[in-house]
Amino acid sequence: MIDRIRQLESLARKLEPSSELRELMLQQVQRYGEHFLKSTIESKIKVFEHDHTSISRLDKLGFSEMPKSLASLLELLYDTVDTTGINPAAPNHFGYVPGGGIYPAALGDYLVDLTNRYAGITFANPGAVRMENILLEWMAEMVGYPKSATGNLASGGSIASLIAIVSARDHHKINPENVRKSVVYCTSQIHHCLLKAFRIAGLDYLITRHIQVDRDYAMDPKHLEKTLQTDIEAGLNPFLILASAGSTDVGVIDPLKAIGLLAKKYSCWFHVDAAYGGFFMLVDNLKEKFDGMELSDSVVIDPHKGLFLPYGTGAVLVKERAAVVRSHHYRANYMQDAFQDEEDISPADVSPELTKHFRGLRMWLPLQLIGLAPFKAALEEKIYLCRYFYQKVKELGFEAGPDPMLSVCLFRWTKSKDPDRFNQMLLVQIQKAGSTFISSTTIDSTFWLRVCIMVFRTHLEHVDQFLTELAEIINQEDFGILETKKLDN
Ligand SMILES: Cc1ncc(COP(=O)(O)O)c(C=O)c1O
Repeated sequence: MIDRIRQLESLARKLEPSSELRELMLQQVQRYGEHFLKSTIESKIKVFEHDHTSISRLDKLGFSEMPKSLASLLELLYDTVDTTGINPAAPNHFGYVPGGGIYPAALGDYLVDLTNRYAGITFANPGAVRMENILLEWMAEMVGYPKSATGNLASGGSIASLIAIVSARDHHKINPENVRKSVVYCTSQIHHCLLKAFRIAGLDYLITRHIQVDRDYAMDPKHLEKTLQTDIEAGLNPFLILASAGSTDVGVIDPLKAIGLLAKKYSCWFHVDAAYGGFFMLVDNLKEKFDGMELSDSVVIDPHKGLFLPYGTGAVLVKERAAVVRSHHYRANYMQDAFQDEEDISPADVSPELTKHFRGLRMWLPLQLIGLAPFKAALEEKIYLCRYFYQKVKELGFEAGPDPMLSVCLFRWTKSKDPDRFNQMLLVQIQKAGSTFISSTTIDSTFWLRVCIMVFRTHLEHVDQFLTELAEIINQEDFGILETKKLDN
């Protein structure tokens, strides 16, 4: 047996490279990273590459007992992953809600992966948990919650929203018997992750009331109150109001104060989706747009959007600690040593996750290392860039959507027989050119081109480049007949 153990050990030790080898690998990875960043910043990698043929190399590689060289694997990574599809790190990425990827966050992740501290339970690593809870306390203070509030650093806005919805469900004792009489209120602007959360949380049979919106797509609180009253008179059970603080489609912030007061009056849980918009609160002259956020019972705010962190960090804040703990804590015998009277709440008690990535360091390190001022400046810059784009795109002859409240702008070319098709063709042309990536949306059956300026690397020159590209497209000879082309051209 000893021989076999020794034999296995010699192979198993390959999992622990020597210090020299680690150094070498790190240098290679660092060189790769530098090349990627340089190419991205200098726009040498297309912001959107629709040719995916290289990906088949991944399938062909398979897995074998034998090692492969890091150089060959990095080359494969570059070809199949880092130069295909959308490059969310690129300054000309204006689609969806772009992600970030600030450098110190990567250093934080590197250290977290290396040290692999257990951040799920306070007992296992009180320091890691404290760090995450300090970040949550900072965000809670920002939204105006009391010190007793709690929260969780989740993998993103969707899981953070699920935590909030499950907490609201249990706090209001929504169960299979009363779910069909229970009512949720939102507008058509609400992010689909909340509707998905209903399905996952067994709330599919809720009654959903779509509240009217004004010209800017903000919720009409008068219509909300009227609907609440009608539902109460009909013997229904209003329990949840959802509002946006920066919707994905247009970046609208609902009138949070008015909605929050109605939520109190009618004893509803008030949830605010600030996944995209929340960190704009850091900008002094935007703060008042978020008035009323403090009246909410839960908020989702995503550092992987508004703080330019790499994907994988959302946050949920819940005002009443007991509500979120009731739904998420658990005690198992095999973990009896881990549950002591700790001062800090364990992330595992406020989330579906037990073992989790220690997300805190990728957020804490950049905030400490860089300081808040550049984050605030970058956020304010994005607002101005969007307003600038809004003005200029109209000057080019496009129709623009509502005045941007944050950093989203809708626009479309209407001088065509079939504007929807025309704009679809325009979108395909822009995406295929690969120098700027934008997305689209459909609101009230109208197709819109959509720009969301949220990459920390986006500056005036990049917005100007896109405006120049648009101007060139408009001046093409066949521009007027774009809608007659085949969509897959
Ligand atoms: C307003 C809003 N809420 C929620 C989400 C979902 O967040 P995630 O993609 O991190 O799950 C998004 C994503 O873009 C969003 O824009």
